[in-house]
Amino acid sequence: TANSMWGGRFAAGPDAIMEAINASIGFDKRLAAQDIAGSRAHAAMLAATGIISNNDADAIREGLLTVLSEIEGGTFQFSTALEDIHMNVEARLKEVVGEAAGRLHTARSRNDQVAVDFRLWVRDQCDAADEALKALQNALLGQAEAGADWVMPGFTHLQVAQPVTWGHHMMAYVEMFARDRSRFADARKRMNLSPLGAAALAGTSFPIDRHMTAQALGFDGPMGNSLDAVSDRDFALEFLGAATICAVHLSRLAEELVIWSSAQFRFVKMSDRWSTGSSIMPQKRNPDAAELIRAKIGRIFGANVALTMVMKGLPLAYSKDMQEDKEQVFDAADHLMLALAAMAGMVGDMTANRESLKAAAGTGFSTATDLADWLVRELGLPFRDAHHITGLLVALAESQGEDLPDLTLAQMQSVHEGITQEVFDVLGVENSVASRTSFGGTSPARVREAVAHWRKVLG
Ligand code: ARG
Repeated sequence: TANSMWGGRFAAGPDAIMEAINASIGFDKRLAAQDIAGSRAHAAMLAATGIISNNDADAIREGLLTVLSEIEGGTFQFSTALEDIHMNVEARLKEVVGEAAGRLHTARSRNDQVAVDFRLWVRDQCDAADEALKALQNALLGQAEAGADWVMPGFTHLQVAQPVTWGHHMMAYVEMFARDRSRFADARKRMNLSPLGAAALAGTSFPIDRHMTAQALGFDGPMGNSLDAVSDRDFALEFLGAATICAVHLSRLAEELVIWSSAQFRFVKMSDRWSTGSSIMPQKRNPDAAELIRAKIGRIFGANVALTMVMKGLPLAYSKDMQEDKEQVFDAADHLMLALAAMAGMVGDMTANRESLKAAAGTGFSTATDLADWLVRELGLPFRDAHHITGLLVALAESQGEDLPDLTLAQMQSVHEGITQEVFDVLGVENSVASRTSFGGTSPARVREAVAHWRKVLG
């Protein structure tokens, strides 16, 4: 039989496969709360503008709450024949309140309906991402505070470069996740305009009040062009863009945790709650959560690419292609939230190994730059000459299987006679980090300042 919502000009119902490819109810049922909020705002506005009676609007608004409680209570019977959440809700509303339900869709189309539902959903996700990122920042702050002056190797090319502090390394991620938060906030601000009332594409001849529905749904106002309102999904793409960059940051931290928890590094130990064992190797303690977080970028960036490709080249206004927007965004959002929560839990629970960090900090000639700087500062050498002399000293130490502080003063002086005993002060890793007091530098004093600053920002 023909569809009860639009079957007027149809004699026959759809082929089963047509129904299967067309239906979105399997996934867009997740928009139920947003759909009902949008419909309730629309009904109130229709009554306020005299388009429908107050009695009908009241019945509709009440009935929608009944439908919502059925959906939330799990008793709602979803129907694939009714295609999507919009028609499922409206059909049930008709059973609950009768004829009045048929007036709800006045001056509205599923095109603006889905656009408003999906915006509301993505807007909530921006807020959820913000909360989750904040929790992660707090976990990192805890680590940074505890180890503001713990020395560890800083790397470039994953080769030991210069000593840094554990706190400084943790705070680097606090900064990254702050930018992620601002990207979600920025996207949220731009998406916070209402498409409701664009109707199918052209607007409507009914005297609707789009400002009223926009306000009721927490939007800053109505979107300015009805064609644009129903046909763009750039808000979802912005969310996926912010999610992708956030997932990049998560994957980098995850990768470091994987490396750091290895027997070769022993920089951190994950708690039992955030580790897994092996079914064959009894000694194993695997960082599975970190690895899975590292992997989430695959599906999140995948969703970003998929929706970008769906939208590319679509003529205005709505095309059914756009129904493919939701699963991508749902999946990306679900996995981003899971990854953020797991990362916050893992970071909050892990223990940095201060001794291992310190031992590693002194390897790899990590204070060679301090030595070169000393030659410049104390002996007045041009930096290039100091660099060369230090290189000779590194080569000398390396040939003896030693580190720089193990060289004797006589050996130092054999390379440059002006070197004095004082040079040994700058070869210690603690002195090295303590000297990096420039703004944004790794000295414990600067790290404590940064921690205090972010504690205040995070509240
Ligand atoms: N299920 C549809 C979607 O997700 C809702 C809009 C349908 N509009 C239409 N003209 N068929 O995009």
